Amino acid sequence: MTNSEIKPTVSVRQLEKYYQVVDKRYHIISGLDFEVLPGEIVSVEGASGVGKSTLLNILGAMDSFDDGEVEVCGVSLKNLNEKQRESFRAEKISFIFQQHLLLPDFTALENVMMPLLIARMNPSLAKSQAIEILKKVGLGERTESFPSQLSGGESARVGVARALVGRRQLILADEPTGNLDRDNSRHLMDLIKELQNEFKFSLILVTHDLELASMAHKRNRIVSGKLSPVSL
Ligand SMILES: Nc1ncnc2c1ncn2[C@@H]1O[C@H](COP(=O)(O)OP(=O)(O)OP(=O)(O)O)[C@@H](O)[C@H]1O
Ligand SMILES: [Mg+2]
Repeated sequence: MTNSEIKPTVSVRQLEKYYQVVDKRYHIISGLDFEVLPGEIVSVEGASGVGKSTLLNILGAMDSFDDGEVEVCGVSLKNLNEKQRESFRAEKISFIFQQHLLLPDFTALENVMMPLLIARMNPSLAKSQAIEILKKVGLGERTESFPSQLSGGESARVGVARALVGRRQLILADEPTGNLDRDNSRHLMDLIKELQNEFKFSLILVTHDLELASMAHKRNRIVSGKLSPVSL
């Protein structure tokens, strides 16, 4: 198969996004095109406030858009109702967040099982898959720990395990190392790289961190509402 025959995981054409605050309208994304192929790691860089998280939230059907075409994992996101958005999120994609957003009243194991249970997997199968991925991120001994009992780096790894457990085609990561010190940040990067090499998901990496961005196969930045390649 040549490159032109491979169906992209993400295809965005002429995306437009405005935010309305009181009586003022802000044009955040303007005529943005974006394509991510299966198994690619792609960075989205740019100054604070340029629209990186906005773009990621649109791709994850967490936010709406005003015009253009957005197709993610074979689903057009244009006219989805709330129920269709929910099932898209449950079945097709995963997020890794800067704040990890673990549920405080659930153990590491329960946090990682959650997306599988939401997708209605049998609980004992969900449990064994969650244990397997927690072992891969080096937390096989910490399955019963609660988020408050884990360090920042360990919580980040639980967040990665939770994102990867469903073996989604696309992972959306917003500053995944943003809260970590250099060593933990490098450890997390190596771990994500290793798991991407094994599972071959597509990864969109929103980041300010040039070291993290350097793990991408393709680097982009948002300038004036559009995406342009970063020349190295
Ligand atoms: N819900 C909202 N309502 C109104 N304006 C918003 C909303 N969400 C974001 N914005 C504005 O849209 C712009 C883009 O925000 P976004 O969060 O995408 O930036 P970012 O590139 O991710 O920045 P950072 O690097 O600081 O995370 C900002 O000016 C922000 O204030
Ligand atoms: Mg952001």
